[in-house]
Amino acid sequence: MSSHLLSIDSLSRDHVDHLLRLAARMEPIAQRRQVTRVLEGAVLGNLFFEASTRTRVSFNAAFCRLGGSVCDTTGFTFSSMAKGESLYDTSRVMSGYCDAIVMRHPDQGSVAEFAAATHVPVINGGDGPGEHPSQALLDLYTIDKEFTRLGKKLAGAHVLLTGDLKYGRTVHSLIKLLSLYEPMRITLVAPPGLEMPSQVVDRVVSRGHRVEQRESLASDFADVDVVYTTRIQKERFTEEMNESFGVLSRDFTVDRAFLDQRCSDTTIVMHPLPRDSRPGANDLDVDLNSDPRLAIFRQTDNGIPVRMAIFASLLAVEEQIEHDLRPV
Ligand code: CP
Repeated sequence: MSSHLLSIDSLSRDHVDHLLRLAARMEPIAQRRQVTRVLEGAVLGNLFFEASTRTRVSFNAAFCRLGGSVCDTTGFTFSSMAKGESLYDTSRVMSGYCDAIVMRHPDQGSVAEFAAATHVPVINGGDGPGEHPSQALLDLYTIDKEFTRLGKKLAGAHVLLTGDLKYGRTVHSLIKLLSLYEPMRITLVAPPGLEMPSQVVDRVVSRGHRVEQRESLASDFADVDVVYTTRIQKERFTEEMNESFGVLSRDFTVDRAFLDQRCSDTTIVMHPLPRDSRPGANDLDVDLNSDPRLAIFRQTDNGIPVRMAIFASLLAVEEQIEHDLRPV
């Protein structure tokens, strides 16, 4: 891995496999069955200029589980960016205070711009509609664990990505990550106007994957192994889109009826969360909450070991952690 984690583009399959193995090694520490203080004295700068629950808190918890401390800034209001400070100056200043930085920002490319000015590792915690690479890594880690439980393999799997594929940064990172592996079948279902960017689709196809695009979930998906659904990101809509879009059709809702009638007993359902529970949002339905096929909370739990693995790799403390995990 390079000195930052900004995009899946910087990762090879070997890097990804290594990170996933490392994440599995972190599980006992993530669950506090074993303890390491390997990052004692180190400080994480957690800079979130867009709303977040999971990414901000799980990066914070992962750093603390490794013995480090965290400085948090949330929103522009309480940062000097509200007074017109540039990304460059903020970056130079923060790199004098911290050993690593996680940043979320509403503008695509802004985290890379910030990273170019710093001396410490930077992790992209989501740059507008761009990418969210740590989410994709924890998603793949989850798929791998679920497939092991179900006796399935990633090679040849059928993955359905649905929802807002245009603005959903998690699906941009996930499809790039999946494309590093053996050919699989990927079905993309998005409301008109919210399709996956064509350059991303073209790249995945050029790597030998079979990609189909549809406008509705009203089909037979009995051979689908993973349904990955995402929230419609209305906060990123233009005024014109807001007027034309209105209420999302129930045709895009993943619920118990969809899973029972169109999928199978071994289809798993994932979502990066948050899911929108407001009337008319028609996001992933709560009627699946007690269904074992719903993997969303196993997915969120996996965020801790995967983010610990990212820190261990970027801060080069893997060997010290292995030493701490050795039986005495
Ligand atoms: N999945 C995700 O990025 O969640 P948050 O927006 O809560 O961080």
